[in-house]
Amino acid sequence: MTDGYLGFSTRAVHGGEERRKPEHALTTPIFQTSTYSFQNTAELIEYMEGRIEREEYGRYGNPTQRVAEKKIAALDGAEDALLFSSGMAAITTIFFGMLSRESHLILTSDGYRRTRQFCSTLLRKLGVDVSVIDIQDGYEKLENSIQENTRLIFSESPTNPYLHVLDLERVVAIAKRHRVKVVIDSTFATPYNQQPLRWGVDLVVHSATKYLGGHNDLLAGVVTGSSYLIGALRDVQAMLGGIIDPHSAYLLLRGLKSFSLRLAKQNENGQRIAEFLAQHPRVKAVYYPGLPSHPHHAIATRQMRGFGGVVSFEIDGDLETTSRFIDRLKIPYIAPSLGGVESLVEQPALMSYYEMDPEERRRIGITDELVRLSLGIEDAEDLIADLQQALDGI
Ligand SMILES: Cc1ncc(COP(=O)(O)O)c(C=O)c1O
Repeated sequence: MTDGYLGFSTRAVHGGEERRKPEHALTTPIFQTSTYSFQNTAELIEYMEGRIEREEYGRYGNPTQRVAEKKIAALDGAEDALLFSSGMAAITTIFFGMLSRESHLILTSDGYRRTRQFCSTLLRKLGVDVSVIDIQDGYEKLENSIQENTRLIFSESPTNPYLHVLDLERVVAIAKRHRVKVVIDSTFATPYNQQPLRWGVDLVVHSATKYLGGHNDLLAGVVTGSSYLIGALRDVQAMLGGIIDPHSAYLLLRGLKSFSLRLAKQNENGQRIAEFLAQHPRVKAVYYPGLPSHPHHAIATRQMRGFGGVVSFEIDGDLETTSRFIDRLKIPYIAPSLGGVESLVEQPALMSYYEMDPEERRRIGITDELVRLSLGIEDAEDLIADLQQALDGI
């Protein structure tokens, strides 16, 4: 059941699910098997010749995964979706599949550290030409960075951790003029808040570990797009092997059923907490696209239904003051990741960017006093009271 005309919440519950399931189960079962058997050689040949569709071997997919893929495709307005063992497995498979030696990739600078690291080390080692551009420098800079061998523009939107929002229509127009593909990491937005395919983006990738799973209990990644591109990536995945396991696919399906309820709450918490922080004297800056003061607020309002549950901000103080603030918080856990029902907090200088020396951190824009707060589904009043006492105490 993938009727695109049904509402988002209905699709989250029923999308992709067979009405009649094995043994009359209500939920889609976990098929915990690594391989699938053939009744006889005739069936094998029928399958090999593409006359029947069925499973063959776990690295090529499993039935629980197929249902989750159909559900996510229905949510993202995509023809097809492909699940991976993690967001990074999805991202690296895209790069391996779409780039080759001497081709050129344009990557935007504010983004998940491991994506940037993969591009600047492994991809370069394999002979891919990589340009990293700051989207704050404007869209002319983006267009001027395109070369004859440019194949791909890859960016997050909103970005991690500063929550810049790209004007997707504009990026796509530039890319089309030069026959370049656009891939958007939409992890921070999720299909609930933004559907980049509607703006003409070629592929969308999500770390499903975050909001799609939503319970901090699984690792997964997903790519959505046209059947043609997803089919090509499926072939690359069959070689690279970054497939989601049946149990994680089940947890993902379970998490997705309450997806729209969680996101509505996380959007509300994000907005209320950003507004609270923006007026607090111990907070120097707040980065949240839902605030009118955010430089991309107008684009975000046009492109997004809500602004998500991540709020980044800077404490008016130094590294130690910021750590003291974090240690005083009682509700959020100090942890990497984001998007789950529990609020999480991190000081990027001491977690994601710890191994960099302070000078290098400053050069790429990660300040000592930056805090990234991922809001869960707790009550906004409790979160605000907790932030208030922690800020007042420093
Ligand atoms: C924006 C973004 N993309 C991709 C990833 C990687 O996803 P995963 O941890 O599922 O491999 C992350 C992880 O934090 C992320 O924040």
